[in-house]
Amino acid sequence: MESQAQIYTGELSILCVDHISVKGVAVCFIFNLDLSHLLSLPEDCFFMLEASSALKTFQSPGFPVKYPPYIRCQWHIRAPEASAILVKFPVFNVRDDCSSDVVSIYDSLSPEKSKAITEKCGQRPPSNPLEVVSSSNIMLISLIAASGIQKQGFSAVYSVIPLTTGRDSALGTFSSPYYPSFYPNSVDCKWTIQVPANSKIRVKFTMFRMKEPGVDIKVCHKDFVEISGKKYCGEKPVLVLSSTTNTLDVKFHSDESYTDKGFMAHYNAYDPVNPCPNQFACAMGMCISKELRCDGWNDCGDMSDETKCDCAKDQFSCANGLCRALYSLCDRINDCGDGSDEKNCSECPSPTEWICGDGMCVPQALVCDGNKDCKDGSDESSCESAASRIALVCTDFTFKCKNGECINKVNPECDKNNDCSDASDEEGCDCGTRPYKHNRIVGGENADIGEWPWQVSLHFKTSGHVCGASILSQNWLLSASHCFKTTSPENLIASNWQTYSGMHDQFKQDSVQMRKIKRIITHENYDPMTYDYDIAVLELSEPLEFTSTIHHICLPASTHLFPAGMSCWVTGWGTLREGGRLAQILQKAEVKIINDTVCNIVTEGQVTSRMLCSGFLAGGVDACQGDSGGPLVCREESGKWFQAGIVSWGEGCARRNKPGVYSRLTKLRDWIRQQTGI
Ligand code: ARG
Repeated sequence: MESQAQIYTGELSILCVDHISVKGVAVCFIFNLDLSHLLSLPEDCFFMLEASSALKTFQSPGFPVKYPPYIRCQWHIRAPEASAILVKFPVFNVRDDCSSDVVSIYDSLSPEKSKAITEKCGQRPPSNPLEVVSSSNIMLISLIAASGIQKQGFSAVYSVIPLTTGRDSALGTFSSPYYPSFYPNSVDCKWTIQVPANSKIRVKFTMFRMKEPGVDIKVCHKDFVEISGKKYCGEKPVLVLSSTTNTLDVKFHSDESYTDKGFMAHYNAYDPVNPCPNQFACAMGMCISKELRCDGWNDCGDMSDETKCDCAKDQFSCANGLCRALYSLCDRINDCGDGSDEKNCSECPSPTEWICGDGMCVPQALVCDGNKDCKDGSDESSCESAASRIALVCTDFTFKCKNGECINKVNPECDKNNDCSDASDEEGCDCGTRPYKHNRIVGGENADIGEWPWQVSLHFKTSGHVCGASILSQNWLLSASHCFKTTSPENLIASNWQTYSGMHDQFKQDSVQMRKIKRIITHENYDPMTYDYDIAVLELSEPLEFTSTIHHICLPASTHLFPAGMSCWVTGWGTLREGGRLAQILQKAEVKIINDTVCNIVTEGQVTSRMLCSGFLAGGVDACQGDSGGPLVCREESGKWFQAGIVSWGEGCARRNKPGVYSRLTKLRDWIRQQTGI
């Protein structure tokens, strides 16, 4: 979704002023945490460090094994006058509860909250190390740890850097001082961008983070960026702004306490008559490649690239301007979003008939009779209260109770009704619930925190996120074989992987539980050519602790039915488009289960009975690279979420007539039980 910078004629002048204010610094030990419960005296843990231009290091006590309990440590760093201090933490692993263990960094030599640069706990992945800068020649770092399980601690590298006085920017870019380090406290910067008369300026922020507790982001009374009289702060995934004339002033201010990553901005000049030469101009001001127009993706972010599209011959033109495949007409699925594809549809020929999800008609009397009469089972998929029935014969469509009874009812497991006389259909049903309440954000793709508590991110060595997985129990995860069986034997080595549960943002570790893998079990029949049996279970080296953001998903019985047309959700940090970059925030997409016959046609016979298709034949919504191993989940009437599939493969991503292909869990259910006992 990157837009290219065009006509590049901007001139940038920068002025940065640091407020240096170091006078008579008193060293005292006032801690902001309540440590009255600590009876033991702090260990002797006080260090005076002298920063120079050479890189020097220090570590938390006990590093890299673990720091001792009940400690208070301080590192006082001084640098020559008229310079600043840069501290980087290549390793940072402190207990994930800032009220017990915390590293605090101050822009002074005393631990005063009003001079705090930041306070951090938890573990940071190598992809997002902590880096801070002082505003003058002093800095204080403290580590406070209470009782309990201690972590590895941190290692730090520090050196002197010159004070910020308008550092050079690469052509067409500017950023907060020392970006991507945290910007210093008490700085004021101003950039004046000037372009030729009759041109205007566009500024695009590719990173924007100025978050601080207790700040109303409508007011931004602490740290902010100011453009055309408006202040911006907080965190913004996309921020594109335009000037009204040929000059633009951008101001940046940081106050005395708390800093953050800051911003990275790209600017360019444009001709207001033709704002996006050879590109498409979004309503919001952004330019995007012409090919992205009417491709089914909301690239502009405001849908302006997906409205007023000329639909292709095999497409239907929705009332709202979107294009959808012709065969999505009258399939009882609201593909357009405005219902226009489901209007004026003829019903079944006889009023005593019922229309199945695939368009077939069956007698009304067969609906919710406990038998699957529509080919796709849609006549049994949403029955208010199918009474408990014990079947005379067990078939592929009857649920088998522990005592051998079979239940003639669609998906009786965990539906809050005792159907088996031994109630085994309601056993182990503490799964598939979301502890947090959620509102769906219309048009939004970012997941909410805790919305998909079974989602896991798998990191490989130092490459960061590679695949997804889902939580089956405190000790077991479910993923795809193809994440592990690659051309490199390295991928099969359990110790090369880290699993992150409870994660939302790849760059944040708050309430994330990292676990190593003890054992990787891939399916013995996995075929790397066809992706058949693309399933793996991962045993964790230490059990997970279930929390409001970490919870297991329900596995469907092998007889569970996910009828065609059912709405399910796929989640992951995979690329945001084919060939694009990975997502930082967990993404969610609503996809429909696709009828097996259609699935087989569109994939040219490449699907086996261990696979299922889900998505939209019109394209536009799908999983993509990096989502593999992640779950496709569906919400049942009972409110419980069941996993229907594992992201496995697809031809490209979100292409027309190329839906996502998933490993079909019902067909692999018994294998999971054999391997894990779940
Ligand atoms: N194999 C891909 C991966 O390794 C996932 C492909 C899913 N593709 C799709 N179009 N649904 O991440």
